[in-house]
Amino acid sequence: MTAPTPLIAGNWKMNGLADALGEARRVAAGLSGTAARVAICPSATLIQRMSAALAGSAVMVGGQDCRAEISGAYTGDVSAEMLADAGANLVILGHSERRAGYGEADELVAAKVVAALRADLEPIVCVGETLAQREAGEALSVVTGQVRGSLPAALAGKAFSVAYEPVWAIGTGLTPTTPQIEEMHRAIRATLSEMFGAAADTAAILYGGSVKPSNAAEILHAAEVGGALVGGASLKAEDFLGIIGAI
Ligand code: 13P
Repeated sequence: MTAPTPLIAGNWKMNGLADALGEARRVAAGLSGTAARVAICPSATLIQRMSAALAGSAVMVGGQDCRAEISGAYTGDVSAEMLADAGANLVILGHSERRAGYGEADELVAAKVVAALRADLEPIVCVGETLAQREAGEALSVVTGQVRGSLPAALAGKAFSVAYEPVWAIGTGLTPTTPQIEEMHRAIRATLSEMFGAAADTAAILYGGSVKPSNAAEILHAAEVGGALVGGASLKAEDFLGIIGAI
């Protein structure tokens, strides 16, 4: 099996004005010989300026969501084509904050993945269980169900990654134990193999949820962890570089 190239992506969520571009520049300047691919996903309003600021650097830029349609009467929404036009290379889809806050179900996430591929954006598809689901012993079935429902057949042979983000670990400082992370990542890997065969061997399975410089090495070296999707700790270049350096 060809091991996936690790990906460390920062999800800035709804944070960052123009002055935050300096943090992105500091990340680019601070990268030295990392084996990982590195991306920052700022708000849609910053994508174009960040792409320009990072042009020629090793840091890719991504969106945080997109609408499935190419264009039309969808006030306030942004299409995959618009993200690509602004300079994005990737897009986060199905984040739990969108699943919970906007009622995004697997079918919609899958349609957005198709849109991302149509626009030549590499999707990062998020999955993860709630605390209630974990406590009910449903974590594995919920997450593998989300993988099956959110990843369309069109992904076969395409570059993509899956981010396992337990909802209860996001922004809380809590993280699963390493055996819990490994159990879930192995289950996701097995599901990807069933769905796509060897074509999905190069898809990285990222972990997300309270990743910080102090826990990054243990998480990133766990079995089947192919990188991280980082929220709060990606807002400061020093912390994000500390995580990247732990790979
Ligand atoms: P935190 O790293 O802030 O917990 O957020 C994780 C996340 O939601 C990344 O998409």
